[in-house]
Amino acid sequence: METAAAESGLAEPHLAHVLASVGLNVEYVRAEGTTLHRLDGDGREVPVLDLVGGFGSLILGHNHPEIVAYARDLLAARIPVHAQFSDSPHAGRLAAALNAVLRRELGDDEPYFAIFASTGAEAIEAAIKHAEFDRHLTLAALAGEIADHAGQVRAAVGAGDAIVPDDAFDLAAPIARPDGVTDRRERLERLVAQLDDWNSRQLARAPLFLVAEKAFHGKLVGSVQLTHNEAFRVPFEALAAQARFLPLDRPEAIQEAVDAERGVLFDLTIANGLVTVVERDFPIFCAFVLEPIQGEGGINVVPPEFGKEARRVCDSIGCPLIVDEIQSGMGRTGAFLASTRVGLRGDYYTLAKSLGGGIAKTSVALVRASRYRKEFELVHSSTFAKDAFSSLVALKVLELLEAGGGAAYRVIEERGRRLSAMLGTVREAFPDVVKDVRGMGLMLGVEFHDRPDSTSPIIQDLVRNGFLGYAVAGHVLREHRIRTFPTGSAANTLRLEPSLQLSDEEITRLESALRDVCAVLRDEDGPRLMGAA
Ligand code: F0G
Repeated sequence: METAAAESGLAEPHLAHVLASVGLNVEYVRAEGTTLHRLDGDGREVPVLDLVGGFGSLILGHNHPEIVAYARDLLAARIPVHAQFSDSPHAGRLAAALNAVLRRELGDDEPYFAIFASTGAEAIEAAIKHAEFDRHLTLAALAGEIADHAGQVRAAVGAGDAIVPDDAFDLAAPIARPDGVTDRRERLERLVAQLDDWNSRQLARAPLFLVAEKAFHGKLVGSVQLTHNEAFRVPFEALAAQARFLPLDRPEAIQEAVDAERGVLFDLTIANGLVTVVERDFPIFCAFVLEPIQGEGGINVVPPEFGKEARRVCDSIGCPLIVDEIQSGMGRTGAFLASTRVGLRGDYYTLAKSLGGGIAKTSVALVRASRYRKEFELVHSSTFAKDAFSSLVALKVLELLEAGGGAAYRVIEERGRRLSAMLGTVREAFPDVVKDVRGMGLMLGVEFHDRPDSTSPIIQDLVRNGFLGYAVAGHVLREHRIRTFPTGSAANTLRLEPSLQLSDEEITRLESALRDVCAVLRDEDGPRLMGAA
């Protein structure tokens, strides 16, 4: 029989090897609050302060006692976890509870319909699929209108009430004049055939998305095309629709991208007895997808001017704006939606991660009623979505966040301020090591300078391979028993997303760990950074 170690070697062994190379290959055996426990060589538990927080899934902490007790009760009561295609009152209550919070934060009475899913990427894919369904129906209606107009024009020309002037062909740039053809019906049919051909080619164009540079919206087939990191995205480009990536510091790039892709359909009308070709704009852009604060991309807060311009352009072309709150939402920044803190307004909102309270796997795409296509409910489904267990756990999470008039949000804001102030003092003490501290609430990033000219060959090597941030995380874990991480897309930025239970004492512990690692980097002490000295 194979040993457990050999068996675990079949679950992404290469990744395990990479984690081991920077000392992050630790097995955790127990978790509560802000703490993960591993075992030492003698089998004793060693507590590790967790600032990774399940990639932002643990705003209330690991195994929150009220959530665990509630989940236990639900299972003991044998609630029907899965009873698909029957009434789902719990999902309904959850949608209503989410709406109540959105109503308060957005100051807007328009309801949002909920499409439930299980993971973040699945919620994004449900959202973009809904947006594409909407676009498809819009295009079909437009094509139908254009066909109706052609029929009306045909009738008018047949009755001798209208003629097709030569310049009807000139207006429609790609159309050839029917030289020598004088029969008015024949002239019209030539025109209609060419316009139909043009229109069909335009309608067959693949949809496009608008997305910010450094965005992360998931790694499934559709969502990975909205994730900027080329290593994640490019090998799979052929599988799905593409995005145009926009720099957050250049809001004017949004309009430029839209102008560059503008497409028109040709429609017919009659003016003063003359058949006239008119241009009709049609939607090429399926959706603008935007994180209010980029998480995986290195904690980048969307500048208000960018958010405003995104809203303006979306309104001008009728494109839905999907605000991805999967990481930034659920109170993470001190408001339920981070977008309300940066002045960004969406037509859709996606939530996941902390929605499941650290134990359920659940996510949701919320769609503004005025953009909602109810027919979508009959063409989209997912086995695990809307299950009673996840819905009830998520309701409990909302109850905990909203209790005491939103006391949790105030705690998050206060804890975030305290943590951020401490990070600021470290940056002040080590401006040559720490490049930037940024973020909001309990979604903070500490960016380290790149150090390509380090006098330490070890550090030089780490920098060249994009592993400096991982080595910093490895050092802090090994020497200080604190778990932090950079990301695949922001390798020099440590991302700090602790739970609201973070204590003053833990902030102080992090401070000494950061001061230590900053001193190691300032001293160019490669061996010590890697735990070899
Ligand atoms: N959207 C955002 C903003 C995310 O941060 C993530 C995941 C997803 C979508 C996809 O969610 O993993 O449940 O499918 N972010 C993780 C991270 C992976 O490292 O920040 P998923």
